[in-house]
Amino acid sequence: MQLLPSLLILVPFCGGQDEWEAPEYCRGSPCPQFTVVNKTTDFEERVYVATAWITTKIPNLTAYDLIAASARLKSVAGHFDAWPVLVNVTNGKEYSLSWFVPPYMNIPEITDPSVQLEIRPEVNVYVRVFRGTPSIDQGKLNANELCKSLRKAGKTFSTERYAGAAYESYFALTHHNEVWIDKTQ
Ligand SMILES: *[C@@H]1O[C@H](CO)[C@@H](O)[C@H](O)[C@H]1NC(C)=O
Ligand SMILES: *[C@@H]1O[C@H](CO)[C@@H](O)[C@H](O)[C@H]1NC(C)=O
Ligand SMILES: *[C@@H]1O[C@H](CO)[C@@H](O)[C@H](O)[C@H]1NC(C)=O
Repeated sequence: MQLLPSLLILVPFCGGQDEWEAPEYCRGSPCPQFTVVNKTTDFEERVYVATAWITTKIPNLTAYDLIAASARLKSVAGHFDAWPVLVNVTNGKEYSLSWFVPPYMNIPEITDPSVQLEIRPEVNVYVRVFRGTPSIDQGKLNANELCKSLRKAGKTFSTERYAGAAYESYFALTHHNEVWIDKTQ
């Protein structure tokens, strides 16, 4: 009986201090690990650890091209459970679609030249969250809003690129979406 209190005290340490607790909106699926280093009412700044992605270019930002891009990623990696799905927009005219690849997952050798496995080094990003069914227009709108907030706050950030992140299937009932803009020095 005397052992009990000390056992109870020990329990919280057994989780391991380095274990990262994924946010609720990942809904138990693997998602990239980050730390929030600053937070305002308009945006937060996160530091993401180095992460792996499979990426394919999208010729044009249409639903048709997005579906075709998803099919290319799927044919390389199969279907796996991880979020987010990222649409990367560079200079307002180059687009790509990326799937987060969890650290323990092995992607088979990629033979499709239109798909790349890339390691994104650790990065600071500014993030704005938005709700509702994700769309290209909503992504653009929220990227503009984030841009304005960052200017107002005197932050330095990439003006070339933003990414829209979705954490659930298009057909889900509720949505947590984000826009990401890289911090620059
Ligand atoms: C991209 O989509 C727009 C609108 O649907 C179309 O007018 C344009 O020709 C397309 N461009 C390419 C390269 O497919
Ligand atoms: C977006 O695309 C750029 C250029 O292709 C790349 O350097 C960057 O890592 C991509 N961002 C993400 C989040 O994948
Ligand atoms: C957090 O952001 C606020 C608002 O832009 C800024 O005043 C503050 O210096 C930032 N803190 C850190 C640690 O970056």
